[in-house]
Amino acid sequence: MTSVNVTHTIDQSPERYNRGMILLHWATALLVLVLFASAEIWDFGERGGAFRNNLKLVHFAAGILLTAVFLCRIVWRLMSRQSIPAAEKGLMGLAAKGAHYALYLGLVAQIALGFLWRWSQGRSVDFFNLFSVPPLLNISQDYRHQLGELHENIAWFIIIVSVVHAAAALFHHIVLKDRVLTRMIPSLATRAGHNKS
Ligand code: HEM
Ligand code: HEM
Repeated sequence: MTSVNVTHTIDQSPERYNRGMILLHWATALLVLVLFASAEIWDFGERGGAFRNNLKLVHFAAGILLTAVFLCRIVWRLMSRQSIPAAEKGLMGLAAKGAHYALYLGLVAQIALGFLWRWSQGRSVDFFNLFSVPPLLNISQDYRHQLGELHENIAWFIIIVSVVHAAAALFHHIVLKDRVLTRMIPSLATRAGHNKS
């Protein structure tokens, strides 16, 4: 199984991500948005109120889904024998790769911290009323504050890096008019007639 579909064109970056990677990428982006928005919005609700508690339920369920999507992404990557070549070379290519690694690392850390924070309160992470992930490790309450602070800081780190990452993708599409964004949204290329060789 290969991880790329190659279309033969005269462009510098003719490959696109395969369907699985594209689906997992956009699911990740959507879940990160839901996770961040839910946590920022619940602050407006009063402590112990239904609004705040329901948004927390959404946050925990989205957190469990993000964990599953992230694990699929890693397995998919490991199973693919071929990885997609960098869209650009030189310093910009290095910066793009750095941003991707930073996002992967940030997500791993954020997922781990989310569970550890909840477990440090002696509570499980619920997927609505369907199932829950009970504390699998015994985390002392003493770490609760630090875990929470780290979780909040890494949330901002992920959001800032993804905004820069998304802006770079849009810059490629709108200003440079190359195929970087169409590697992740192939239908854009078809619509613009980019796929014609
Ligand atoms: C990229 C993914 C995530 C982002 C951006 C994110 C963001 C946040 C933010 C901004 C807060 C509020 C922090 C504060 O009030 O100080 C929070 C709280 C929390 N998050 Fe996440 N989070 C993510 C993933 C997860 C995951 C995967 C889990 C675990 C399943 C999780 C569990 C929690 C818990 C337990 C809280 C504390 C809730 C409470 O105050 O009782 N988060 N998250
Ligand atoms: C929280 C949101 C996002 C996260 C966590 C994220 C994460 C990532 C990661 C980790 C990769 C590297 C994939 C790999 O090769 O393994 C990637 C690629 C990519 N992302 Fe995102 N992304 C997000 C949002 C967006 C948005 C909003 C856009 C478009 C506006 C976008 C466009 C792209 C494109 C075009 C690529 C492929 C770049 C290339 O081929 O070099 N991403 N993303």
